[in-house]
Amino acid sequence: MLPNLFKKLTFLLLLCTVVALPHLAFSQPGLKDVYKDYFPIGVAVGTRNLSGEEAALIKKQFNSITAENAMKMGPIQPEEGKFYWKDTDAIVSFAVENGIKIRGHNLGWHEQTPKWIFIGKDGKTVSKSVLLQRLKDHITTVVSRYKGKIYAWDVINEAIDDDPSKSLRQSPWYQILGDDFLVKAFEYAHAADPEAQLFYNDYNTEFPEKRERIYTLLKGLLAKGVPIHGIGLQAHWSLQEPSAENLRAAIERYASLGLKIQFTELDLSIYPWEKNKRARRTGESDVFTPELEQQQADRYAMVFKIFREYKDVITNVTFWNVSDRYSWLDEYPVRGRKNYPLLFDTKLQPKKAFWAVTKF
Ligand code: GLA
Repeated sequence: MLPNLFKKLTFLLLLCTVVALPHLAFSQPGLKDVYKDYFPIGVAVGTRNLSGEEAALIKKQFNSITAENAMKMGPIQPEEGKFYWKDTDAIVSFAVENGIKIRGHNLGWHEQTPKWIFIGKDGKTVSKSVLLQRLKDHITTVVSRYKGKIYAWDVINEAIDDDPSKSLRQSPWYQILGDDFLVKAFEYAHAADPEAQLFYNDYNTEFPEKRERIYTLLKGLLAKGVPIHGIGLQAHWSLQEPSAENLRAAIERYASLGLKIQFTELDLSIYPWEKNKRARRTGESDVFTPELEQQQADRYAMVFKIFREYKDVITNVTFWNVSDRYSWLDEYPVRGRKNYPLLFDTKLQPKKAFWAVTKF
């Protein structure tokens, strides 16, 4: 009788250990707790992430949220005057209920912009005054709805041209509005919520030549008195980039303007950066080898070490997507090629990179 009971108890104990092991990380402090004396740690989400085990992971690890797509102009105002609030309301409520800060993303961009916005009632390209009114209506409506809940907005996204010889991107926004695209967008956002912190957000912000073009743009806006409070560095990085030197130089350069710095879309692709979209090649490997996992952990350790050094100017670090279960990089720039750019794996378990940024 006794030995039988003993066997049963041992079996139960074993079972408990096996079930609990993968969740042991959850008994560790979350990222947000480890970084509480540094900066909030954010994550980009869609409504699909807000239930079940992903919601639990978000609540445990993060204290800032960004809508991955829902707040962009196209999804939120697909037709003039018709706003689709369902997804954004759900994301905002989830954050508010769980004491999570919210970054708004974004109010003006050359992508995910609804087609109607540039077309007048006569079917032709709109005039500057009509487009400014539409921009104002959009920004005022969206910012006012979440006034007091969204603490920071990416007002303008990616306005700098990829061509190093140019400054602003030749988008329809720029062609119709010129410099007023930025100036007015920031002014409208500020008028709608004077407390909100307003950011200019862009990619490749650490490349010296683009860094200087962004710096010049922001310096000019500040000199004109435009209400801009910070710069968002997207941080879609890879195992190769940026160098520690370029990262430090970028932080210092932007901070010298008195701007707050937020890393708004962090991920570390396991592939070297490719600018143009292309098809997947036959036989192309997308295996996440132990060597790649280690290299990624080392790079994450390096960039977080630098983030910690600059905690006086860095006010948010946000990851772009929750875990390797889904990343926008699974589709871009090579459709269907799996990527593993985040701190949690496809089973939502912490990767080496997680330990690399939390054990310091
Ligand atoms: C840019 C945008 C983001 C997102 C990513 C790709 O960085 O700022 O909103 O669309 O591209 O997912």
